[in-house]
Amino acid sequence: MIQVKDQIYHLGLRDWELKSFHGNELSTHRGSSYNSYLIKDEKTVLVDAVWQPHAKDYMRILEEEVGIDNIDYIIINHSEPDHSGALVDILEKRPDIPIYCSVKGVETIRKQFHKDWNFRPVKTGDTLKTGKYELMFVEMTMIHWPDSMMTFVKGPNVLLSNDAFGQHFAGASIFADEVDECEIWQEAIKYYAMILTPFSALIKKKISEVLELNLPIEMIAPSHGVIWRKDPLRIVEKYAQWADNYDEGYVSIIYDTMYDATKRMANAIANGLESEGVLAKQFNSSLHDMSDLVTDIFKSKGIIVGSCTVNNGYLRSIAALIGEIKGHKFKNKVGAAFGSYGWSGEAHKNIHKDLEDAGIKMVHDPVSAKYQPEGPELDACFQMGREFANHIK
Ligand code: FEO
Repeated sequence: MIQVKDQIYHLGLRDWELKSFHGNELSTHRGSSYNSYLIKDEKTVLVDAVWQPHAKDYMRILEEEVGIDNIDYIIINHSEPDHSGALVDILEKRPDIPIYCSVKGVETIRKQFHKDWNFRPVKTGDTLKTGKYELMFVEMTMIHWPDSMMTFVKGPNVLLSNDAFGQHFAGASIFADEVDECEIWQEAIKYYAMILTPFSALIKKKISEVLELNLPIEMIAPSHGVIWRKDPLRIVEKYAQWADNYDEGYVSIIYDTMYDATKRMANAIANGLESEGVLAKQFNSSLHDMSDLVTDIFKSKGIIVGSCTVNNGYLRSIAALIGEIKGHKFKNKVGAAFGSYGWSGEAHKNIHKDLEDAGIKMVHDPVSAKYQPEGPELDACFQMGREFANHIK
């Protein structure tokens, strides 16, 4: 158990081995953590639990450090299994403990565990006195589940923010200011890109609402990764930027290829972009980690996507990529399509249409090359890069 601030403690678990999250949807190169917190006031309050595979270790820590019999209240800010899994183990021993959660939280916990525990539904502004401290609840509906909320501890002024402001990261310290912050920021933006992008409009609104509450936030303690102890509002400011049609100005050229014809087209397009002073990155989607690729799309101003034609369509890694783009509902990104073909030649046209359907503003006609591209076809790719660059500029 590590002291966070005053009478607030971290008793979560760092998962050093975790390589993927949400099944295998989200890569976690630096592991993760499930941060559970303990408030030791006149009342003893547990805030969020851990994922079921870690329940045994968690229960041992709880028994040794706290004693299950000593817990007065449990707060579940969000009932996704990575925070609620170990509830079953705790409540098997003490089914009477009141569980504070949002109204939607009651519904989602019931539907996941099929138990009728001692629920105390709360909404924004509701408070719970624990002794010296008072807890205030703030609903975070659809950021990122219907039940999500945060708990602000008045007194030490710590915001227990659950998923918001978190990162999938296991570090030597639980505090951001004691680890390599480059790693933290990489993981924080990836977390936002992969989990929160579709909710950006809500996040923008919610950040304003939370700031209007004028909470004297001295620390932000999320449920994954490190705690923002020094200058904690840095991560809130970043969220405000990320929620607001964020990009870093470069173009991602993403392709899949069989015999390098489409790859050679990608190179020529990149040369065209760079000749106009626009920076470009190239990714072979069949070789690249999909979560990292989505993060690069999040940071890109534009995307140019290519595949050779196979079976009257495009290659499977491009199909997966377009699915991700559609699901993440990226806003304010421009795009174009390209690809080589042998005879029927559908890939570049289908990519163009499917990106448009996914909400990307297509700013160039698709470019194609029959079998291996040569002079005029590579020139057309170069020219596409130049024209795309001018749209970006
Ligand atoms: Fe970390 Fe949405 O659960």
